[in-house]
Amino acid sequence: MSLINLIEFHRLGDDRGGLISLEQNQNIPFDIKRVYYIFDTKKDVARGFHAHKDLQQVAICIKGSCRFILDDGVHRESVILDKPNIGLFINSMMWREMHDFSDDCVLMVIANHHYDEVDYIRNYDDFLGCIKHV
Ligand code: TYD
Repeated sequence: MSLINLIEFHRLGDDRGGLISLEQNQNIPFDIKRVYYIFDTKKDVARGFHAHKDLQQVAICIKGSCRFILDDGVHRESVILDKPNIGLFINSMMWREMHDFSDDCVLMVIANHHYDEVDYIRNYDDFLGCIKHV
């Protein structure tokens, strides 16, 4: 089974321009507790390099492009996000890295919990250790 679970959002735009609506437990598959966005990413910077014990997220590149790597401790897959109507569902216990941000990239992330540093696993070997104990 692929690690890359993409959600295609219905485009509500018309001849005036684009519009996409995100609703909790409708096209976003969880309660929405937090939204954050990454922008003005410096050249050749990669981000992420962590997993979450409990958090689920949907990442949407609403402008520009970037590349995600998802890794469940066994398989590693890569996907380019470059469309505002495509969301990448990221389950808990999934190592993620973000690379190749375009200058204009705006990466929006929807999450089902408030920010909590305790939920992060920031060391890859610790992540592999946790996977083995599931
Ligand atoms: P981090 O999750 O490490 O960023 P990335 O995965 O994109 O590399 O977050 C960077 C910093 O911002 C870190 O100190 C935690 C803080 N932060 C918050 O305070 N609230 C948030 O919702 C997020 C995502 C990060």
